[in-house]
Amino acid sequence: MPRLSENALSVPPSGIRRIFEMAAELDDIIALSVGEPELPVARHILDAGAQAWNDDVTHYTPNDGIALLRTAIAAKLRRDNHYLVSGDQVHVTAGGAQALHMAMSLTLAPGDEILIPDPGYATFTMAPRLLGAVPVPYPLTPDGGFEPDVEQLDRLVTPRTRVLLVNSPSNPLGVVYGPDLLRGLLAFAARHDLWVISDEVYEYFTFGARHVSLASLDADDRVFGVYSLSKTYALTGARVGYLVTPTGIANTFRAAQESIVSCVNAPAQMAAVAALEGDQSHVTAARERYRRNIEAACALLDELGIRYQRPGGAFYLWIDVSHADEGNVSAWAEKFLVEQRVAVAPGVAFGAAGEGWIRICAAGKTGPLLTALGRLPRP
Ligand SMILES: Cc1ncc(COP(=O)(O)O)c(C=O)c1O
Repeated sequence: MPRLSENALSVPPSGIRRIFEMAAELDDIIALSVGEPELPVARHILDAGAQAWNDDVTHYTPNDGIALLRTAIAAKLRRDNHYLVSGDQVHVTAGGAQALHMAMSLTLAPGDEILIPDPGYATFTMAPRLLGAVPVPYPLTPDGGFEPDVEQLDRLVTPRTRVLLVNSPSNPLGVVYGPDLLRGLLAFAARHDLWVISDEVYEYFTFGARHVSLASLDADDRVFGVYSLSKTYALTGARVGYLVTPTGIANTFRAAQESIVSCVNAPAQMAAVAALEGDQSHVTAARERYRRNIEAACALLDELGIRYQRPGGAFYLWIDVSHADEGNVSAWAEKFLVEQRVAVAPGVAFGAAGEGWIRICAAGKTGPLLTALGRLPRP
C-alpha cells in the first residue's frame, strides 16, 4: 500500500474523543466534555434556513459567501467589534474551524512556525500539522493568570516564526484579555513582523470584562479575525463562521476556498443572515444562563475547596484535579467517567500544560452541572 502523507499522519487525535466515545457506551452520564450550547436555536433562524431550502436556494454561492451575509457581517463588525472593513475583507467559512484553517493556509508554508496557546483549543495544533507547519506552544500558567507573557513569547521566536495565534475569550481557560495586553501582543507581532490570528468565537460570552477585538487595535493590517455563529447562536451543526482578513488578499482567499469547499452551504448562509440581523435577545439570554451557571459552579467549588480558574468569558470551567489524578489526568478522567458517570475533558487534550486540570462545559443545565461538580474529589 502507498503511505499516507506525513502531514496527515502527524495530526494528533483529539484527546476529548476517547471520553466522548466511552460516554456514548454508558448510561446515566452527565456529559460535560464537549463545548456544545444546549439552548434551542431561535425560531427566526430556523425559519430562514427552512425557507431557503423550500425556495430552492441550493446553488453555488460566491466563494466568499453571499453578498447579503457579508454585508450583515460588516455591519456587525462595525456595531459590536468597533472596526470598519471593506467588503472584500469578509469571507464566509464552514465554521470557525475552517476560518482558522484558511487563516493558517494563507500564512504558513511547510516548516513555518506558529505560536499557539498551551492549553488551547486542539485545532490550533491540528491544523498547522496538516499544512506541514510547526505549532510552537506558549505556556499559559496559573501564576501568570493564564495570560500570555510577552517576554516568554520573545524567547520562542525563531527565523521560521510567521504567526502568533491569540484566543480571547479563551477555550479552555475562559480568560479574557484586556486592551493593554492585546496592544502588547500586537507590538510583539510588529517587532517580529508576524501575522496574528485572533480567534474570537466566544466574543459574546463575557461576564464583566468587555470583549475587545484585536483588529480594532490593529494599526498595521496584520490581524486575521476568526469568528463563528456556532457558539453565539447555538448553531454548531450549521457550520457557518467567517474570516476577516487584512486588505489585499481577497483573490488569494477566493482561490484557496475554491479548492476546498467552493462555498458554504447556501441555506445555512441564509439562516446566518437571519441570525445576525434578527432579534439578539436569545444571545443575551444565553449569556445570562452561562453567567448564572458559572457563578453557581464557582460558589460550589469554593465551598468544596477545589482550585479552579474563575472564567471571565466563554462557558467553561478549568479545574485543578492534580490532588487526585496521580500525574495522569487522561487516565483519571476515564476512571471518573466510569465510576462517577461524569464526562469531562482532560486538560492534556488542550496541550501539555493542561496536565493536572480538567475542562468542564457550563453551557448546559445548572442542576446536572452542580451534581457533577459535587462528585469531584476534594483535596
Ligand atoms: C476557540 C475555538 N475556536 C474555534 C472553534 C470552532 O468552532 P466552529 O467550527 O464550530 O465554529 C471552537 C469550537 O469549539 C473553539 O472552541
